[in-house]
Amino acid sequence: MQIPRSFFFLMFSLFPALTAGQVRVVIDGAGAKDTISRHIYGHFSEHLGHCIYGGYYVGESNTTIPSTRGIRKDVVEALRKIKIPNLRWPGGCFADTYHWKDGIGPKDRRPTMVNSWWGGVTEDNSFGTHEFLDLCEQLGAEPYISGNVGSGSVQELSQWVQYVNHDGVSPMAKLRTENGHEKPWRVRFWGIGNETWGCGGNITDEYYANIFRLYATFMNASWSGGRLFRVASGAGGDDYHWTEVMMRDIPHGMLDGIGLHHYSVIDWGKKGSATAFSREEYFATMKQALRMEELVRKHTAIMDKYDPKKSVALVVDEWGGWYDVEPDTNPAFLFQQNTMRDAVLAGVTLNIFNNHCDRVRMANLAQTVNVLQAVILTHDEKMILTPTYHVFDLYSVHQDAVLLPVTVENSRTMAGTDTLPSLSVSASRNAGGVTHCSLVNIDPDNALEVQLAVTRMNVGVVKGRVLASQHIQDHNTFESPEKVKPAAFSGFLKQDGTIRVTLPPGSVVVLEF
Ligand code: AHR
Repeated sequence: MQIPRSFFFLMFSLFPALTAGQVRVVIDGAGAKDTISRHIYGHFSEHLGHCIYGGYYVGESNTTIPSTRGIRKDVVEALRKIKIPNLRWPGGCFADTYHWKDGIGPKDRRPTMVNSWWGGVTEDNSFGTHEFLDLCEQLGAEPYISGNVGSGSVQELSQWVQYVNHDGVSPMAKLRTENGHEKPWRVRFWGIGNETWGCGGNITDEYYANIFRLYATFMNASWSGGRLFRVASGAGGDDYHWTEVMMRDIPHGMLDGIGLHHYSVIDWGKKGSATAFSREEYFATMKQALRMEELVRKHTAIMDKYDPKKSVALVVDEWGGWYDVEPDTNPAFLFQQNTMRDAVLAGVTLNIFNNHCDRVRMANLAQTVNVLQAVILTHDEKMILTPTYHVFDLYSVHQDAVLLPVTVENSRTMAGTDTLPSLSVSASRNAGGVTHCSLVNIDPDNALEVQLAVTRMNVGVVKGRVLASQHIQDHNTFESPEKVKPAAFSGFLKQDGTIRVTLPPGSVVVLEF
């Protein structure tokens, strides 16, 4: 983005000098260009631990937990509040073991299977295609179905598309009608395999690119009455060669998105506790979270080379923090608590996605309920909202708003590190003309003074909300569900055409003007 020289001149002549330790943030109020797709705020839910069963779905016969056709009302209500835009399902690694026909028809006739990736538990298939699409309708979210490539077939996946989408006379449309759903759902988002370099088949990039072409050929618009959005299984972290091959070898007419997975893990052999972590572990997690910026930039640079018009999206369809499971829980269920560290991680990551919204047009936090960096935890009839939930709530104002360019000057690094910045920021303007700026103070020990200047627009009345807590390890529990929650923010002062903001240590703030 080319910012005119006059803009900088204006900036320096209008705004007061910085005081020691102050960071200056300048928002170009007239520089709007790209839209932040709401789909950046998407989620991912797998048949893993208690994400689906117990998390979303308790079954029609459950009389103690209020549900609609077996789907928890409290969870639906909470996710509707943060405007969940899309939901990726049924995996993850599980997706490449899943045969969709096992999950349709009368429940007492559905076969069981073994969930071989996640604890070897019995999957009774009571939550299948109809239940998932019912869930998405209740949420008001678009479904994103991850198809089985690893142990499936082209026929199986193309029939799944036909089953959920075909509006006409066909064997799968007939089967759907027999199963009680005459109208097609018209699912747009489809993943073709998951982590095909790993749990999805351990195949090479060149081989997968060919497989993708094959699958994509038979998952076409003739079953859908409209173009499908087909996402290729993407790179794990910094495997740039993977993205290069996808962009080079797959005709762009059949490719709408390429995935990218990145988890903020300290060390796969020693992930550390989700709640009892040291200052060093906090910094190590943040370093991994901030790495997303480099990953997005470098994958984008490769995509730009083959697709300068940016027709193919970068879809970060798995991201989040990954720690040791909670004591005395099944290690295969990936159940972890969620602290202010996770709130900061989420705030930083979503700012990165916002700032790269020209290429990152979809992303999915792993995973919505009871697994990894969940926004919701449930225990029987109880449900709590995590600090990460509250960040998604605060940031929902950015959905479908236009990104405003932001520059950060005099950026500071945190004491104890020489490489990590202490501030993360993004800004947008919504259709009603309201501007929002999300600021994260990554430093867990010190407040951060920010001098915020907005050029080429009238600021007007300023309001804000903050998510902060006394300790970065603070979290909500079933006994104390509201220890961490957003509050009105008053730590700012309008002065000499700028806004002086004091961000509490380890906090997330969203300002509105
Ligand atoms: O989210 C948990 C697992 O992490 C997913 O199943 C897989 O895609 C990734 O490796």
